[in-house]
Amino acid sequence: MGWISFLILGFSALVRGLDRPEQIHLSLGNSDDIMTVMWATSDDVTGHVMYGESINNLGSRSNSSVATLQTDSWNAMKNIHRAQMNGLVSGSTYFYKVVLSSGEEKVESSTYSFTTISQNKTKPRKFLVYGDLGKVEGKPTFPVLKEEVDSGEYDVIWHVGDFAYNMESDGGKTGDDFLSEIEPIASRIPYMTAPGNHELGNQLHHYRTRFSMPGTTWPMSEDRLWYSYNIGLVHFISYSTEVYFIDNQDYVCQQYYWLLQDLITANQNRDKQPWIVAMGHRPMYCSNKDADDCTGRIFGYWVKHGLEDLFQGQGVDFVIQAHEHSYERLWPMYNEKIIAKNYVDPEALVHVTSGAAGCGEIVDKMGEPDPWSAFRADTKSFHSFGKLIVYNNTHLQFIQETVKPRAELDNFWIVQHNHGPRFDNVDCQNKSHANSICRCPFPFHYVTVAVASGITLVLVIVMACIWCCRRCGLCHCSRTTCSCCRKQSVWTKMRMKFEKSSRDKSYVHPIDCDTYNLLDNEDVEI
Ligand SMILES: *[C@@H]1O[C@H](CO)[C@@H](O)[C@H](O)[C@H]1NC(C)=O
Ligand SMILES: *[C@@H]1O[C@H](CO)[C@@H](O)[C@H](O)[C@H]1NC(C)=O
Ligand SMILES: *[C@@H]1O[C@H](CO)[C@@H](O)[C@H](O)[C@H]1NC(C)=O
Ligand SMILES: *[C@@H]1O[C@H](CO)[C@@H](O)[C@H](O)[C@H]1NC(C)=O
Repeated sequence: MGWISFLILGFSALVRGLDRPEQIHLSLGNSDDIMTVMWATSDDVTGHVMYGESINNLGSRSNSSVATLQTDSWNAMKNIHRAQMNGLVSGSTYFYKVVLSSGEEKVESSTYSFTTISQNKTKPRKFLVYGDLGKVEGKPTFPVLKEEVDSGEYDVIWHVGDFAYNMESDGGKTGDDFLSEIEPIASRIPYMTAPGNHELGNQLHHYRTRFSMPGTTWPMSEDRLWYSYNIGLVHFISYSTEVYFIDNQDYVCQQYYWLLQDLITANQNRDKQPWIVAMGHRPMYCSNKDADDCTGRIFGYWVKHGLEDLFQGQGVDFVIQAHEHSYERLWPMYNEKIIAKNYVDPEALVHVTSGAAGCGEIVDKMGEPDPWSAFRADTKSFHSFGKLIVYNNTHLQFIQETVKPRAELDNFWIVQHNHGPRFDNVDCQNKSHANSICRCPFPFHYVTVAVASGITLVLVIVMACIWCCRRCGLCHCSRTTCSCCRKQSVWTKMRMKFEKSSRDKSYVHPIDCDTYNLLDNEDVEI
């Protein structure tokens, strides 16, 4: 019987021919001389990319490795390929095409081109930034993004979480369709990502397989969904806010210490990259009237508790977030207080939330404006996206633009002459602050779920308390106090382990307190 099925299979392949590679998209590799290219196929084929500096001579070859989407992705092109183009010269234009082969058969994509990241620090650098872009609701936005990329002015796109709605939906077809929609832009400039809540399904399986970001293996490893990359005068950081909303608290710590080390290094290199721009999906603050983490209306502020002190202390200049389907810009602020009502030499983080690219859900309406909200738009911001322009050491501009009509929604500058850590905002060295009472940030996502299912508020609070006392290990410091849970959670244990192991390197941390005493560290240039 074997030869019959062989014959039939062979015949159908002959008739049908190989399908072309789809969903071709680029991302930055671990360094400027590497560009990653990915694509999807329905056939089980081998693939490679041919590339070179001349369109008539694609002389270099790199084979792809293949990962298969999980078995419940019954409607998706299951085979995801990834190849890396190596040995590239920074700031040069390259051409490439994807080739698939199976036996004697071959099929090629059309030829695309891209320009590698140049580290030229004298020319202004432009980036597209947005979050929450769906396959259907994003329809009006895709052609506008293409127009922008066609201008040839942009280095990179940053998509700050929530893709497709959702990539695993319809057996993975939604993810396929979304990646096909972005192919015209993502095959030409690197499409850089951060994970959002819509990627959480199946341990972020589709996110980790369909994208490949610097600094981690591929498929991406769940304990390394964060990375940084220097472009011109900017040290970019992409982090995962989702670590605060899943059960495994280890990732909270792993990311925290990764960020800490990354920021310490970034601060040593601030003469080269004065700007630090960090991007993560869920905002620390927002004045929307839904009951999300950032509204903190009942409990919450997980992301703020987890990262604000670290970013403030280490002198991050600008935080770009998404998740709320609206646009909002905040005055420089720290710990719920406005530090200034302008952006000249801000002494605190500047936050923007740009999650209005075209989500698969509703517009998130604004509630009462909080005093720190400098500009906000809900319905009016839908569909819109951000443009980040970095001119020089001191001047950075952010423009939020609507798609229909094409118009500027917001436009502001950050002028900063004093880039660097802001350590003295936090006094954690004083050990008498360390043992203050437990101020657990409540597990707001559990509360939301409970409220949604109609359980009474009392039960909700009891649940939250039990959960909090069992799991919380957050330590957070403000200008004058540090508050920690007494219970030794996974996080606390990890932190203490880290403190012990890093003592040799003269990082000494007060017990039960975070790590801002690094200001005294000899390794850090101030
Ligand atoms: C790439 O694949 C081809 C064909 O299978 C093989 O001959 C070649 O050795 C591979 N190259 C590398 C670097 O693995
Ligand atoms: C850097 O960019 C500037 C402005 O575009 C240009 O004049 C200069 O030649 C570039 N330098 C290098 C080394 O490419
Ligand atoms: C930096 O760029 C801004 C905007 O183009 C400009 O106004 C400013 O003079 C520049 N500063 C320096 C030091 O070149
Ligand atoms: C530590 O904090 C306590 C309480 O705020 C204060 O009384 C004390 O003076 C501080 N010690 C130092 C060394 O700053």
